[in-house]
Amino acid sequence: MDAATQRRWGDQMLALLAANTTQMADREYVQPVADYIDPGHAQRERELFFRRTPLVVAASAELARPGDFRTVDIDGVSALIVRQDDGSLRAFHNVCRHRGCRVVDAECGTARTFTCKFHSWVYGADGGLRHVPMPDGFTGIERQQRGLVPLPVAERHGLVWLIPTAGEPLDIDAFLGPMGPALAGLDMRDAGVFRFERFPERLNWKLVVDTFLEVYHLPHLHNKTVGLHIEGRGAIHEEMGRHSRFIAPRKSFLPALADLPADQRDLTDHTVIINRLFPNAVVIWLCDHVEFWTATPDGDDPNRCIVRLWLLSPEKVVSAEDRARWEKNWEIVRGTVHAEDFPMARTIQQGFSSGAQDHVIFGRNEPALHEFHRALKQALDAA
Ligand code: FES
Ligand SMILES: [Fe+2]
Repeated sequence: MDAATQRRWGDQMLALLAANTTQMADREYVQPVADYIDPGHAQRERELFFRRTPLVVAASAELARPGDFRTVDIDGVSALIVRQDDGSLRAFHNVCRHRGCRVVDAECGTARTFTCKFHSWVYGADGGLRHVPMPDGFTGIERQQRGLVPLPVAERHGLVWLIPTAGEPLDIDAFLGPMGPALAGLDMRDAGVFRFERFPERLNWKLVVDTFLEVYHLPHLHNKTVGLHIEGRGAIHEEMGRHSRFIAPRKSFLPALADLPADQRDLTDHTVIINRLFPNAVVIWLCDHVEFWTATPDGDDPNRCIVRLWLLSPEKVVSAEDRARWEKNWEIVRGTVHAEDFPMARTIQQGFSSGAQDHVIFGRNEPALHEFHRALKQALDAA
């Protein structure tokens, strides 16, 4: 966080807290319920956001050494990402070029070659076809043309993005725009993954992202958990192209900073920064560590999604004496989101299909929700 940003955010947040309010949009935002349940809308989203847009799929730390690999399923496309000998990443359709079997079933690991379980065709880390049993059966094929099909992949600031369609152009710096430097400031490049979890949810994927985009609910839904530590007011929101960032004060913010001159304020220990990455990821900075979430559709039912959560530690490997602290961080995340946010959100998803109303309202005090849904709508309208 540079000095100018600290000063700007500090001034804004102190003024909002003094007025017992939060940053306001000009007017409320009317959000159609159909966007969360309509199969036609879901299909348009899948084609644009989950086939032709860069998606966060891994942390760099999961692919640290040559041969480290990770598989990821994105709405029906299985991808294999492999660290190369030269340090770069390559990604491929995880589909055998013989009869189409999935080549790698493991979620992650380290390997020099990948052997298909069906007839043991062998592929190298670069995707090239290395070995075909009973080669007399395949005298008419060009082996050079039978490597795994490449997918566009990029790595920046400790995160990995992938487009699950072969041949789509991927310019990650242009895609991130002003969000690039903001992510660089989170120091994720040298982080380790303390834990990763993938789980199905009975939610539209957008409800998972919505969960993180306002502090209005903290003193209510979370009055015994995170609401004790983070203010339900005083938050500010900044658009960054199609992405955005949302900064919320901790309860320690006012007592620690209210009486300090602006040039002596250090916001680091007293804020939480929620970086929303278009279309479906949220990277949350919590002073001493980062967690990030993604949500992707799960088939053609708009009421279902797959949620992924990574908890990063600043050190590559958490020491034995620090382990208990990180287990506690993990329990806080799970305790809050799994025990409070998602059970509540499931009732929203159910209510959407009840016919009770055709829209919901995002208040003037929930500007990050406006911006998220506006960015999605603009992208769909332009497609
Ligand atoms: S389908 Fe992979 S080796 Fe036959
Ligand atoms: Fe919440």
